[in-house]
Amino acid sequence: MKTLVVYYSRTGNTKTIAEALAEALNADIDEIIDLKKRMGLLNWIRAGRDALRKKLTQIKTQKNPIEYDFILIGTPIWAGNMTPAIRTYIKENPLEQKKISFFITSGGDKRQHVMDALREITPNNEYISNFGILGKLVKKGNYKDKVNSFVESLSFD
Ligand SMILES: Cc1cc2nc3c(=O)[nH]c(=O)nc-3n(C[C@H](O)[C@H](O)[C@H](O)COP(=O)(O)O)c2cc1C
Repeated sequence: MKTLVVYYSRTGNTKTIAEALAEALNADIDEIIDLKKRMGLLNWIRAGRDALRKKLTQIKTQKNPIEYDFILIGTPIWAGNMTPAIRTYIKENPLEQKKISFFITSGGDKRQHVMDALREITPNNEYISNFGILGKLVKKGNYKDKVNSFVESLSFD
């Protein structure tokens, strides 16, 4: 099965998980670049506001998801929501009928709302299973066992 790990990451946590997943699954990997500036205090505030308002943004990617059977999509949580880059990616790409999983990194433990929102905007997909982890565990390097048990738990009919 051809597998793609695609992610947006502002400060590296989601990127670390994406790379670990891609390695464990022998998958291709693609970073979504948000063309809107997101670094610095003012942009941090705007980032949260854009996510809260469910704004779209302009993005750049390299790989075509059409070529893949299973796509894992990763986002940090911003202001209780998925990032605008991920919302845009899902809107702009025809992912219907693909097997998908989501993975989320976050500052706190409340990820279910974002998992639900991601599923809401991908109604025509086969869900495999989802993965979430605290950003601080990723920073400490405490994620490899969790990623490996997630990968081992994946099952396809
Ligand atoms: C603008 C902004 C808003 C955030 N809001 C939340 C939030 O509402 N809930 C939460 O758990 N974490 C929140 N976080 C923390 C990030 O989700 C967390 O640090 C994540 O691991 C960052 O991923 P990254 O390093 O891949 O960018 C926020 C971070 C930013 C930059």
